[in-house]
Parts: sequence; C-alpha cells; structure tokens
Amino acid sequence: MVKIGVVGIGRLGLCFALNLERVGFDVFGVDSDADYILSIQSKTLTSNEPHVEDYLSDSEFLSVSSELKSIIDPEIQMIFICVPTPSKADGTFDHSYIDKICDEILEFDRPEKETHLIINSTVMPGYCDSLHERMSQHNYTASYNPEFIAQGSIIEDQQFPDQVLIGEANEDVGNEIEAIYRCFCQNDPRFSRMSKTEAEITKLAVNCFLTTKIAFANSIGDLTIQHGGNQDNVLAAIGADERIGPNFLRYGFGYGGPCLPRDNHAMGKAAQQVDLELPISEATDRANSLHRNFQLEAFEKNYSKDEQIVFSELTYKPDSDIIEESQRLELAVDLARKGYTVLLKDRGTVIDQIRAIHQNLFTYEALTDD
Ligand SMILES: NC(=O)c1ccc[n+]([C@@H]2O[C@H](COP(=O)([O-])OP(=O)(O)OC[C@H]3O[C@@H](n4cnc5c(N)ncnc54)[C@H](O)[C@@H]3O)[C@@H](O)[C@H]2O)c1
Repeated sequence: MVKIGVVGIGRLGLCFALNLERVGFDVFGVDSDADYILSIQSKTLTSNEPHVEDYLSDSEFLSVSSELKSIIDPEIQMIFICVPTPSKADGTFDHSYIDKICDEILEFDRPEKETHLIINSTVMPGYCDSLHERMSQHNYTASYNPEFIAQGSIIEDQQFPDQVLIGEANEDVGNEIEAIYRCFCQNDPRFSRMSKTEAEITKLAVNCFLTTKIAFANSIGDLTIQHGGNQDNVLAAIGADERIGPNFLRYGFGYGGPCLPRDNHAMGKAAQQVDLELPISEATDRANSLHRNFQLEAFEKNYSKDEQIVFSELTYKPDSDIIEESQRLELAVDLARKGYTVLLKDRGTVIDQIRAIHQNLFTYEALTDD
C-alpha cells in the first residue's frame, strides 16, 4: 500500500493520519513532542475528539516517531505537514515551524524520486509558491491542502467534507492528492483544484465569509431587539431566502475560537500585502465586538449587582475544550470586571483553564466530565 508521511500529528494531523491508516495506507507520523509520541505508540493517548481513541486502539498501519528522519524514505513520496502556524502580532501567520521542517528535510540526501510536500497548516497567500520555489531545486514539490473541519468532529468532518481544496504544484500531484482523499472520504465531495495561491485565498475567504455571516446575524438581531422586535423571527425569514440560507444565521454569542478570528484578520492583512483595502474583515471584527457591548448592556439593564449571574458552556463552541476567544467567556469577564458576581459552571477541564487565567474574578463550579 502507498506510504504516506504526516509531520505534526496534533489535533488535526493525528485525525488525518488515523483516517488514512483506517483505509489501509501505511502512515508514518512525526511529531516533535516525544511524550506525546510515546502515548500514541503505547495507545494510551486520551483525546476529547470523538473516535480518536478507538481508531488509535484499532490501528495497524500507523508508525510514529519524534525523528523527522523516519519519513526520509524513497518509498514515502507524499508528506503532509500539519504543524502550528501561530498568528503574529500583525495578524499574519508565522510559518517558521514549516520552514524549520523544510530546512531539516534539506539536510538529508536529495530524494531520487520527486517527493511531494503537502501543507495542511493554514498559511498566508503566496507562502506555498515561495516554498515550492525553494524546495523544487531539491526534487521536492509543495502543494496546499487545507482542511475545513471543526473541533469536536474532526474525524467525521474529514470523512464527509463538502469539498476537498487542493492548491496543486502540478496536475499530477493534484491527481495523487485527490486519489488519497477518494480512498477515505465517505461521501462524494467537490474537488476544488486550483493554484496554490488561489487555495490559500479560498481557505481564508471561507472563514472570513462565516465571520461576516455571524456578525451580520448578530447585528441585525441587535437592531431588531432595539426596535422592540423578535430577532429570531427576522433571522429565520432572512435565512429562508434560498440565496442566503439559514446556516450561521442565528442570533447568539459572537464568533471566536482558534480559527475564525485569526483567519479573518489574516484575510485583511493579505489584502494589505498587495496594497488593497479589504474593509469587510475589519468591519466584521468591529461588529463582533459591538455585539458583545450590546449583550453587556442588556445584562446591565436586566440584572442588579446583588444578583448572581451564572454562565455555563464556556468554550467557544459546544463539544470543545477550547476557551480561546470564547465570546461567552469574554462577556462573563466584562460583567465580573464591572462588579457582578459571576458563577461559571463547566466541565473540570474547562474550569481549570479559566481559573488558571482569571483566578478569583469568578466563583466556579466544576461539573464532572462524562
Ligand atoms: N485544529 C483545527 O481545528 C484546525 C482547523 C483548520 C486548520 N488548522 C490548522 O492546522 C495547523 C495545525 O493545527 P492543529 O490544531 O493540529 O495544531 P496542534 O498544535 O494541535 O498540532 C500541531 C502539532 O505539530 C507538532 N509540531 C510542532 N513542531 C513540529 C516539528 N518541528 N516537527 C514535528 N511536529 C511538530 C506539535 O507538537 C503538535 O503536536 C495550524 O496551521 C492550524 O491553523 C487547524
């Protein structure tokens, strides 16, 4: 069976590796975290992601190592790279993890057969072209293949994608990537094949569109409430228009989490890099934060400071342990800072993270993890 390398087997990469393994590919995973690798090797890894523990326990064709050299093998010609690309202070992504891996790859002998690097990490438009230019002198190609998945359903989102986005180094590599996905996708997704830069723009633009839709729904909801109406009636009617659709058009907390806000910022920066203005990206951020102010004022109108306010489900979305940019939590912080007594109730793993950051700002109740 075809051998595939996956460098960076964290939240996204491990799910991808397990999906590949499950349909019979020989998968070689590399991760720099040696303890984490041990937990995968011993199959004792615990994960909140559905199916990960079961798939790992059943796995037969997954080998993992903390050594990059384990995937330097003439038979491994497809290497997916799924390492962090943290946001920098200016909103662009830091590609240094990928660059460092490529530097290390170049320390090994030039491969006899052309070997393909496929970047899954989220990157800025133009990055994969420059990577390809650098690596192609050494018989490597670079392509881009980002994923549209949500924490809490990564394995299934990978098995049932709406589309597989491939920014291909050339048509042959695109065919090979498509063939791999056809083996494990359990639906019949659209294969959106294009240039690397087009795919980089598409990935950011999809998330930018979602932030826009969420910010729009909340803004129209706020407007309706201010006029004394029911926001849900209005949004349901807007979403009934087929050209618009109901998804992501519900009233609630603003967007947050590890992907949407940062991809939205990066989209604006990508425009600046080519001397364009893209006000939509800034406008959605501003609308998101104005919505939080609106919610805060509503609480202030409806609650007196001697009442306790209880918040639960504090992660940025259900079925996740991630509190990063959770708008619900940020609203709770705003209220506590204004002198309200706020009780936070959530699973112990979530409460521990919040307590480590906010200490005595709140009172806490840890619910048992089930
Ligand atoms: N998780 C998501 O929901 C999601 C969704 C879309 C896109 N992405 C993108 O995918 C990329 C990875 O995200 P993630 O959530 O899987 O991150 P993660 O932090 O869970 O996993 C990254 C893994 O890479 C490993 N790593 C770091 N440096 C390494 C190196 N030099 N060699 C080998 N391994 C190394 C880390 O130890 C870690 O296990 C990011 O660019 C992210 O933006 C993630």
